[in-house]
Amino acid sequence: MINRKKIIAGNWKMNKTQAEARVVVGDIIREIGRFDSAEIVVCPPFTALSAVSELLGSVTNIRLGAQNMHEAASGAYTGEISAAMLRELYVRYVILGHSERRQYFHEDNATVNRKTKAALAAELRPIVCVGETLPERESDQWKTVLETQLVESLAGFGDKELADIILAYEPVWAIGTGKTASPAQAEEAHQWIRKVLATKFSAAASERIRIQYGGSVKAENAKELLSKPDIDGALVGGASLDARGFAGIIKNACLE
Ligand code: PGA
Repeated sequence: MINRKKIIAGNWKMNKTQAEARVVVGDIIREIGRFDSAEIVVCPPFTALSAVSELLGSVTNIRLGAQNMHEAASGAYTGEISAAMLRELYVRYVILGHSERRQYFHEDNATVNRKTKAALAAELRPIVCVGETLPERESDQWKTVLETQLVESLAGFGDKELADIILAYEPVWAIGTGKTASPAQAEEAHQWIRKVLATKFSAAASERIRIQYGGSVKAENAKELLSKPDIDGALVGGASLDARGFAGIIKNACLE
């Protein structure tokens, strides 16, 4: 069986000033220590990236991620940020196609595809998010929805590109609601994602890719979710804003 290193990423969303970010990252560094049996990523808002980057400069087991980027290299795109701007701050990962970007900023699969292409070209590791809404889950359309999101967001890519991508399965109904998908529900969706990928990419590539679960993950439920064979990590919103909570997820879920 393939050994996929777990990856836990904290998505701070629109939270924390630079000063607040410095405090929480200092605490995370202390809480986590040298723990390195999982890949750990923090994704602060753009304005705190540089402060967090400085603090992580001498830390080797916690990496920096951004929450979004624009697909163009530069140009007249008021309010946007390019991959090169992120790279300059030592950002290594970028969350793309988060359901909040899809819902509030009208990003569709084609946008996510263009952004993913640009991120890969800049040697950033995209964390590509997919997930169904509550009506789609309740009407049993979640499989088709995930399939379309995957096929369209990853269009034009081959095994080589897939190797640098991380996927996050985030059922929209579980984000910020306190309602987590059951470990069995999440595992079923992750298995389906791998099955869809195996039709577009090689079986080996679909086995190798890491798929995070996201949606109300916290220290108390992380272990059960991440012990499922196809759940390779977590994309954590609310619970990543607090160092103890975030470190608790990592320790509970990733310590043997
Ligand atoms: P949540 O957010 O953990 O607060 O539900 C997850 C996410 O949006 O990535």
